Amino acid sequence: MVSLPAQNKITTTPLLFTPIKLRSVIVRNRIIASPMCQYLSTDGGPNDWHMMHLGRLAIGGCGIVFGEETAVEPNGRKTHSCAGIYNAKHVKSYRKLTDMIKQHGAVPAIQLGHAGRKGSCHGAMEDWRPLTESDAIQGFPPWQIMTPSAAVSPPRPIPPKEMDQDDINRVIDTFRDATKLSLDAGYDIVEIHGAHGYLIHQFLSSASNQRIDSYGGCLENRMRFAIEVAQAVRDVWPKDKPVFFRLSAVDSKGGSWTLTEAIALAKALRKIDIDMVDVSSGGISGSSNMPMVPRIPAYQASFSGLIRRQAKVSTVAVGGITEPQQAEEILQAGDADMIAMARELMWNADWPAHAAYSFGLDDPFCYLPEGYAHRLRQREVQKTMEVNQDQAIIAKSLRYFLDGETPSSK
Ligand SMILES: Cc1cc2nc3c(=O)[nH]c(=O)nc-3n(C[C@H](O)[C@H](O)[C@H](O)COP(=O)(O)O)c2cc1C
Repeated sequence: MVSLPAQNKITTTPLLFTPIKLRSVIVRNRIIASPMCQYLSTDGGPNDWHMMHLGRLAIGGCGIVFGEETAVEPNGRKTHSCAGIYNAKHVKSYRKLTDMIKQHGAVPAIQLGHAGRKGSCHGAMEDWRPLTESDAIQGFPPWQIMTPSAAVSPPRPIPPKEMDQDDINRVIDTFRDATKLSLDAGYDIVEIHGAHGYLIHQFLSSASNQRIDSYGGCLENRMRFAIEVAQAVRDVWPKDKPVFFRLSAVDSKGGSWTLTEAIALAKALRKIDIDMVDVSSGGISGSSNMPMVPRIPAYQASFSGLIRRQAKVSTVAVGGITEPQQAEEILQAGDADMIAMARELMWNADWPAHAAYSFGLDDPFCYLPEGYAHRLRQREVQKTMEVNQDQAIIAKSLRYFLDGETPSSK
């Protein structure tokens, strides 16, 4: 192991690099590669792109590497090219991914979700434009989406279906089945996507849920679907592996879901043994005066802190976190147990190793593959050589290369 210059060395390990044990799963640091939809799946399954995309994140040193939101049934996807895990044939291809992620020291995690009324569209680069009959001609037909309340759904060429009890039961079953497939595929962590305006969030927020049955109205009723899904997942996921739940702490512009409601949800999730609440925001809009969450640095960390303290749950902070010191301060302040990042990791997939270096950890290269680490440790030794000595060596070798003078002849 290489020694960093004394002035850069630290005496205590930053929280960001303190391993964390989640049930029996040990995570090497507190950095999570947040789920990132790629819109590049093949019939729901991953391909070479996903090996590269998630491979970069695994070899860059993240503790947990999440795949993108993965639908529990074909119609639960947003687009025809979204990820899904709803068929035994998917297990083999996801297993390749999880094996690769583990081989590089990270913990593979899957985010299970259902798009509900946000399905049947194009991807992010086309601003989620709804599929139409002209897309059907290209082989990408629109499909009937399902929602808690059809009347408040955005317009789609095929009218949405308001979910009845059979639909609700069936979707819960698909979450259960997808969880079992995820286990077969080698995942160590499963996260339920209850944020960003997708199906579970559509039940939670009164901006999208105007049902008059036991799934609508009061908060307890609106939370029912989320809790039933979480319970179904927890029931079939091994007791020694953690379950995460991503929620929106608040709706955003025009929505109605509040932080107080999110805290109540987090408490209910804790009671059914959900291990970690991943705190995001937004996704549903309506006609209220609720403002947009301002996109300042670490814009959701204070939500995470409040939920963590008031609901007494472990949380993940995500959103606008880009600097190692900023991440450390969030953890030190008790605003989160872990830090998730998305865009910064697309920009700089080796962020964890660079952060370790910037903190002066003893061996920051240990987060990289051994073949890289070995060479970088050697380079670090070279860097610490005396400048004069460097110059003497260079002068000597120059004489050799220019004049054929052997190093030993003088
Ligand atoms: C390309 C991209 C795809 C995303 N896909 C998902 C997703 O599948 N599921 C999810 O919960 N969030 C998704 N998000 C949100 C991120 O996980 C993260 O919460 C958000 O980008 C804020 O973090 P950041 O400021 O570090 O980017 C996505 C973000 C990006 C940039």
